[in-house]
Formats: sequence, structure tokens, C-alpha cells
Amino acid sequence: MTVPLQRAIVVGASSGIGEAIAHELARTGAAAIALVARRQNELHRVAGIIKHEHPEIKVQTYMHDVVDFDQTAPLFERIERDLGGVDTLVYAAGVMPEVVEGEYSFTKDRAMIEVNLLGAIAWMDVAAARFEAARSGTILGISSIAGERGRRGNPGYNTSKAALSTFLEALRNRMSRYGVNVVTIKPGFVDTAMTRGKGIKGAIAADEAARRCLSIARAGGSGSAFVPGKWALVALVIRSIPSFIFRHLNL
Ligand SMILES: NC(=O)c1ccc[n+]([C@@H]2O[C@H](COP(=O)([O-])OP(=O)(O)OC[C@H]3O[C@@H](n4cnc5c(N)ncnc54)[C@H](OP(=O)(O)O)[C@@H]3O)[C@@H](O)[C@H]2O)c1
Repeated sequence: MTVPLQRAIVVGASSGIGEAIAHELARTGAAAIALVARRQNELHRVAGIIKHEHPEIKVQTYMHDVVDFDQTAPLFERIERDLGGVDTLVYAAGVMPEVVEGEYSFTKDRAMIEVNLLGAIAWMDVAAARFEAARSGTILGISSIAGERGRRGNPGYNTSKAALSTFLEALRNRMSRYGVNVVTIKPGFVDTAMTRGKGIKGAIAADEAARRCLSIARAGGSGSAFVPGKWALVALVIRSIPSFIFRHLNL
């Protein structure tokens, strides 16, 4: 079975993985794409590339801050009207501010919970109600391997991604019986603005991550996957380390 991803909203489409997913959707036959994020100039840049390469595709941009939770449902409705329907929601918006040793910042932790988790829930709840009623649709959430364990480096980020993975799993368990495809993607390291300059080795390109994300989503069957797949082994290992050992590791 191949799931059609024809009329898609990409939240967090102005850079990185979300931008790459928008390009990949265009390359693989989407009819209409809504690009959502805060930076209008970047959204226009992405839309310009897609329109140039695929003039047949309808591409619209929407400046939106995902923490404006009251605006999510009205914006979803507006996009539905503009695109002639929506069958796919990709939530790729996320922030990971640097948190240094000894720092406990509620401001940063709150931003990560609001953008990475609550923004996702706001968009997914609207999509879920529609897709369940339609008995079809795809919700794709970009979580992270960082949600597999509470690590010492950035507790707020780990928490936001662990909770997002759990929310997506629960949606999947609720909605797969209604034919809705709920996909959790847990990337390892991807070369984007979020990771650049942080001394991370072995990151894959955002284009490659996007190709893998959409091929998993198109396969249907609602699933959760690490991207690339080798991170499943890493996850298995870090989940199996007992807490009294894990706390002494610099992971
Ligand atoms: N890069 C990695 O190695 C990696 C690994 C695992 C998971 N992830 C996850 O992948 C997702 C995409 O990250 P990325 O690596 O592609 O980083 P990125 O290039 O920094 O992209 C982040 C995206 O989120 C959007 N965003 C941030 N805050 C927003 C807000 N308040 N409202 C609306 N949009 C907002 C940004 O758009 P604006 O700034 O224009 O609003 C941008 O489009 C994130 O959820 C991240 O946690 C990344």
C-alpha cells in the first residue's frame, strides 16, 4: 500500500528537516503544500524554489508562531480552503537552545515544551479530528532519539521529545483503526541550523532525512522509526543501561 500525501501542511517549513520535507513532497507528486513557520522571508524562499522547480504545484506560505495556540484551528481551516483540502500534517517545528552545565532555565525549558510539544499537540488535535472523521490522512511528527532517555545535557529537550513520542503513540493507537496513518520519526543527527557548529560528527543531510521520513510515511501502517535506522540499535543500548550507571555517563 502507498499512502498518497497530496495536500500537505508542513509546520516548521522555513529551514532544515521541515524545508527538506516540503521539497521532497513536491518532488514526489504532492498537489498542494502549505508552508508554515515564523520567518516569512525564509518561507518565501522555500516556496520560490518549489514553484520554480514544480510550477504545477500549489504552494502557499503562512507566517505563524506555534505558541499562538488559539490561532491553530482557524489557520488549519484557512489552509484547507486554500489547498482544497488537507490529507497530511507534518510537524517539524522545534527548538533546542543551548543549555550549559549548571544552568536551569525555566525560560528555555518552557520554550522547548511549548514549541516541540504543545505546538505539536495543538496542530495534531485539529488534524486528528478531521482525519478520523474522513477515515484517512497522515500525521507525521518529528520527534527525536533524544526522547529515549533523560540525559544530563538538556533535560527540557529530552522531556519535550519523550512526551511527543508518547503523544504520537497514543494517537496512533486511537486512530489506526480508523484508517489514519500516524508516523513518529526519531532522527539521530541531521545537519541543520539546530546542530551546526556544535561539533556533531556523522550527521546526515536534511534531504536524506526527508527522503527517509516520507518513504516511511508512504509505506503506511502507522509506525515509529529511527532515521537513519542504525539509531534503533543506539536506542536499544541506551535504554538498557541501568539508571545507576547511566547517571555517571556523559551521554
Ligand atoms: N537536526 C537534528 O539533528 C535533529 C535530530 C532529531 C530531531 N530533530 C528535530 O527536527 C525538527 C526540525 O529541526 P531542524 O533540525 O530542521 O532545525 P531547524 O533548521 O532549526 O528548523 C526548525 C524549524 O522549526 C521552526 N520553528 C521554531 N520555532 C517555531 C515557532 N515558535 N513557531 C513556528 N515554527 C517554529 C523554524 O521556523 P521559524 O524559525 O521560521 O519559525 C524552523 O522551520 C525539530 O523538531 C528538531 O527537534 C532534529
